[in-house]
Amino acid sequence: MSSSSFTDRILFGGDYNPEQWPREVWEEDMALMRQAGVNLATVGVFSWAMLEPTPGVYEFEWLDEVLDLLHANGIGVALATPTASTPPWMNHRWPETLPQNPDGTIRTYGSRNAYCPSSSVYREFADKISDALGGRYAHHPALRMWHIGNEFGTVCHCDRCAARFRTWLQVRYGDLDGLNEAWGTAFWSQRYSDWDEVIPPRQVQYVINPTQDLDYQRFASDLLLGGFIAERDLVRSHNPAIPVTTNFMGFFKGTDSWRWAREEDLVSLDTYPDPNDPDAARDNAMTHDLTRSLGGGKPWLLMEQSPAGAGWRHIATPKRRGLNQLWSMQAVARGADGVLHFQWRASKQGAERTHGAMVPHAGPDSRVFREICQLGKQLAQLDDVIGTNVAAEVAILHDWDAWRAVELDHQPHSGFRYLDRIREYYTPLWRANITADFAHPEADLSTYKLVVVPNLYQVTDVAAANLVRYVERGGHLVMGPFSGVSDPDERIRLGGHPVPFRELLGLRIEEYWPLPDEPLTVESAELGDFTAATWAEWLTAEGATVVATFTSGPLSGIPAVLRNSHGEGTAWYVATLPEPAALARILGAACHAAGAEPVLPGLPPRVEAIRRGDKVFLLNHDDESVQIRDLTQDAAQDTAL
Ligand code: GAL
Repeated sequence: MSSSSFTDRILFGGDYNPEQWPREVWEEDMALMRQAGVNLATVGVFSWAMLEPTPGVYEFEWLDEVLDLLHANGIGVALATPTASTPPWMNHRWPETLPQNPDGTIRTYGSRNAYCPSSSVYREFADKISDALGGRYAHHPALRMWHIGNEFGTVCHCDRCAARFRTWLQVRYGDLDGLNEAWGTAFWSQRYSDWDEVIPPRQVQYVINPTQDLDYQRFASDLLLGGFIAERDLVRSHNPAIPVTTNFMGFFKGTDSWRWAREEDLVSLDTYPDPNDPDAARDNAMTHDLTRSLGGGKPWLLMEQSPAGAGWRHIATPKRRGLNQLWSMQAVARGADGVLHFQWRASKQGAERTHGAMVPHAGPDSRVFREICQLGKQLAQLDDVIGTNVAAEVAILHDWDAWRAVELDHQPHSGFRYLDRIREYYTPLWRANITADFAHPEADLSTYKLVVVPNLYQVTDVAAANLVRYVERGGHLVMGPFSGVSDPDERIRLGGHPVPFRELLGLRIEEYWPLPDEPLTVESAELGDFTAATWAEWLTAEGATVVATFTSGPLSGIPAVLRNSHGEGTAWYVATLPEPAALARILGAACHAAGAEPVLPGLPPRVEAIRRGDKVFLLNHDDESVQIRDLTQDAAQDTAL
């Protein structure tokens, strides 16, 4: 196995749930998996009740058979700890294992994920079965990796979670004075005089304390991470050579994946873009880039995607012919060393009975299965990309705390959504085939030619200094609006925004000016005139060059886009939401100045190009075929977006 990857073959397969089927189907599964070129099956994700039918009594024999059968057919296993979904006996006999909503109601069993992460009963049973699985299978020849739980994201607001929250807060703030200070409890008579008074954000009369809300989001992520680590350590203790992962959900707000990823041996992703969404390919690319970046650029694993439709969607349109192959190649191009699906065989019963699968209800004589077989063949030819990297000259900053904070209650514009800002800045780069990584604001940025900050409302002092230093040392930076506003306690930084970036950007903001949807006009000799909407800022240049100015509305005459030289570098500030073409021009100018170049210039509009190792992947997202010019000819580099 290449030391830079977790595999020596491109992994291909999906979730395999043989416990839903009689033995004769297992035999057919093996034959079909071989036919399709499947080499990895994710097993046991929701098998807890079958593995432990009554408390403490394990029935592993059927799983022995499954693993042996897969092994005999040359198929590896990603073995799950089944702890995402508790057996009914647990919730029935120990109702305290059930999660509680903010309003005090209990989410009961009959679905999945019915557990309180703080429940000691849940934890003990989860640890015991993880340890038992580790003990039994850690040296099984089929085992390729551990898959801990599934899509962690359950949040509970019960009294046990309240107690755990207090402990978490004591570590963060030391004593009650620290907590009162951090949460600003002088406001609205919220001062706490005893730790027992401190509770999770529950159903309240009016707006919740924002820092309490934010801290609970951080705590909920850390609490789940503790469960992941407990299970990881148990399975690992039986054989440290087996890599451990859990399946992330891309831009999922509930878990801070920067913190999680460093606890994993490899990062894996579940992604379900909507085939009806014209921007799905862009969102897919963005999620792939995030996943690669979470793993520090190392190869990652596409753990789940649907080969057809996703049964939970309002309109579960299947992927059109070839689309699953296209999106699978996109993942490999953007750094995946494996492409798996949910799921192998379509269930005939249960909540997901209408979900797409590699073997659909129609059986192997189907378009979907034929395409799966083709994909298996194509992926098998790509072994020489294994372990190679995707080079990126641009970093887009992404921070879970900044995301959570900007979407707390009582922000100036409730329609100002963090991911919209990320998408707006990602889109022109993606369209121009300029590859971008995502980076944490405190990460080392020195290898990037350009750093893009779509929105960084909340920022730590360390991150702010990091960005300033990056530019001082010659970096190019583009920052979007409403950035640098608060500190990690959600305390507004005073004296004119954005306090930590004022010198860097050469400007001072007095007022944020959220707008109704009516666009404003903006004049710019350099960029061409454009419109902007939703957001503006009452600001004054203090050294920066004004690149664009509002010419209508209450901010007429106020700068909308500025550029400042700072140290050896250059920082742009975009104080509004320009129309897409104008934002593309801004980013194009910044890329040009920074020397960040497309993988291949001048490609037809919906053709995506990604360089991975010494290969360039070209992906046509258009329905029609396109003619590509002779790529062997040296073309003039062009960074116009
Ligand atoms: C994922 C999950 C799978 C399956 C799939 C359906 O969220 O991990 O178990 O439910 O969605 O799209």
